[in-house]
Amino acid sequence: MKKYNNGNFNLSNLGQFVTLYGWVAKKRDLGGLIFIDLRDRSGIIQIVINPENDVYNKALEIKNEYVLKVEGKIVERQSKNMDIPTGEIEVEVSDIEILNTSEPLPIEISGETLSLEDTRLKYRYLDLRRPELKKNFSIRHAITKSVRNYLEENDFIEIETPILNKSTPEGARDYLVPSRVNKGSFYALPQSPQIFKQLLMVSGFERYYQIARCFRDEDLRADRQPEFTQIDMEMSFADEEDIFTLCEGMFKKVMLDVKNIDISTPFPRLKYDDSMKMYGTDKPDTRFELLLNDITQVFNNTEFTIFKNTIQNKGIINCLVIKNSADKYSRKNIDELTEFVKKYDAKGLAWLKYIDDNFNGGIAKNLNDVETSELKNKLNLENNDLILIVADKPKIVYQSLGALRNKLGKDLDLIDKSKYNFLWITDFPMFEYSEIEKRYMSAHHPFTMPKNIDKLNDPENCYARAYDSVLNGYELASGSVRIHDRKIQTKVFEALKISDEEAKTKFGFLLEAFKYGAPPHIGIAFGLERLTMILADTDNIRDVVAFPKTASASCLMSEAPSEVDKKQLDELGIKII
Ligand code: AMO
Repeated sequence: MKKYNNGNFNLSNLGQFVTLYGWVAKKRDLGGLIFIDLRDRSGIIQIVINPENDVYNKALEIKNEYVLKVEGKIVERQSKNMDIPTGEIEVEVSDIEILNTSEPLPIEISGETLSLEDTRLKYRYLDLRRPELKKNFSIRHAITKSVRNYLEENDFIEIETPILNKSTPEGARDYLVPSRVNKGSFYALPQSPQIFKQLLMVSGFERYYQIARCFRDEDLRADRQPEFTQIDMEMSFADEEDIFTLCEGMFKKVMLDVKNIDISTPFPRLKYDDSMKMYGTDKPDTRFELLLNDITQVFNNTEFTIFKNTIQNKGIINCLVIKNSADKYSRKNIDELTEFVKKYDAKGLAWLKYIDDNFNGGIAKNLNDVETSELKNKLNLENNDLILIVADKPKIVYQSLGALRNKLGKDLDLIDKSKYNFLWITDFPMFEYSEIEKRYMSAHHPFTMPKNIDKLNDPENCYARAYDSVLNGYELASGSVRIHDRKIQTKVFEALKISDEEAKTKFGFLLEAFKYGAPPHIGIAFGLERLTMILADTDNIRDVVAFPKTASASCLMSEAPSEVDKKQLDELGIKII
């Protein structure tokens, strides 16, 4: 069995005779001496073969990515490479066995790869040989290990829940699996273990967790995969404070174990409405300021048609102020920012430059003296400030300026990358109006406890006992206090216009279970990939998934999804039209 990790040797091992295994990362032939970097999971070690050596001729045949067994002695290097951990030593070879050969690789795997992502995904098993990617999986593993240890210390029990399910009401589209035995019927892959973990509470497990695979057929983004993993938890006889304290303790441990950083707890909390007003999003990156400013009031009596119409239509006017930058933004730069906000449905980006106590450019000519002086005071303007304004329905103002804020944070290098800013977003709305369904839907899920039950029939003002965990601008987790009282559940279904019939068909088994002594319970689920992405310092979720799918949900390596035999379809009673 392989005994050593190639990347772990150093001067303390001088004189040691070792048997090493690995892949040829690089071979150099220097004036008779052959140098090979032998790579394994832990790193690389340099081995040297001199021309007098019996194995020299064999070494001449060796090419990149051959698999070798090497015997030799650890010696000190003449010319050291302090950039790698093993850079002060090398192995003086006494014997080499070529365990396997390799054809030239179709992708570049040493250093910063220049190969196209599609080619890398086709040869993912080779791409995964890159140390940069391997590191991400060590981080992912370290997180899971730390979480498991923590939750087990806190009396949680890991229980697996089914993959072949009845569809659960999580909001995304289900992946369906046809049943052969029950033709015409389908299983749904779990979007999350939500209903099952609640049932486990009814069963009296009290503290459950699972590193759970979830499947959602939704539009994919840089932080979304069709199959992903949740750190899923549920607890009986506990409330929000208990969950917050528990999770803060978990992250304190994870950050120490994985990054050796002692983060401070408790995490700050921000109400959803305040987060939207300040940052334009419910997942704010709080590593930089640049807050949204509400300047609607300033324009209450405006004659400027665009703003006047916005206010008449119950819209709002918000802005971002970029300090001391007016001279840095040309017309072309501002046009680019305008195009950017239009992607978020804003009709345009109004702007002003405040220079030498005067407003210039953009909409300056549309402001009267009262408005200019109010703006100056309200925004504490200083010379050379640039003001970027969106006037629209609140939803559009927040989504466009929130996105612009994040873009400017990056472009202007405002983000302190050494920070890990965890926070809780609380007091989410209970309902969300769906333009597609033309009705109010659950903002979280229909089993979420309302905060103000008396407002169930006033959906715009009804809040939920639901919360999110946010880290550096990513939504890490969502959770809520669940309804365990049937009367409240019935009222929530009524508010959602879910009929008794529909409720019974969709989740009758959960409602039935709740007749038999459901304990008060609460839970949360963290996205493992998102957490790994942040701790591995990548903004591409595919970097932390061993065999990921593309944006069109296909696997370029296995070519899934693929057509199947007619025989298979016949067995399932399925005809493709
Ligand atoms: P939610 O749907 O918010 O809540 O999901 C919880 C967390 O899972 C992660 N996540 C994803 N990660 C990668 N790709 C995806 N497609 C994807 N979708 C979600 C996010 C998200 O915050 N059952 C509830 C939780 C509960 O109430 O206990 C749920 O699934 O990090």
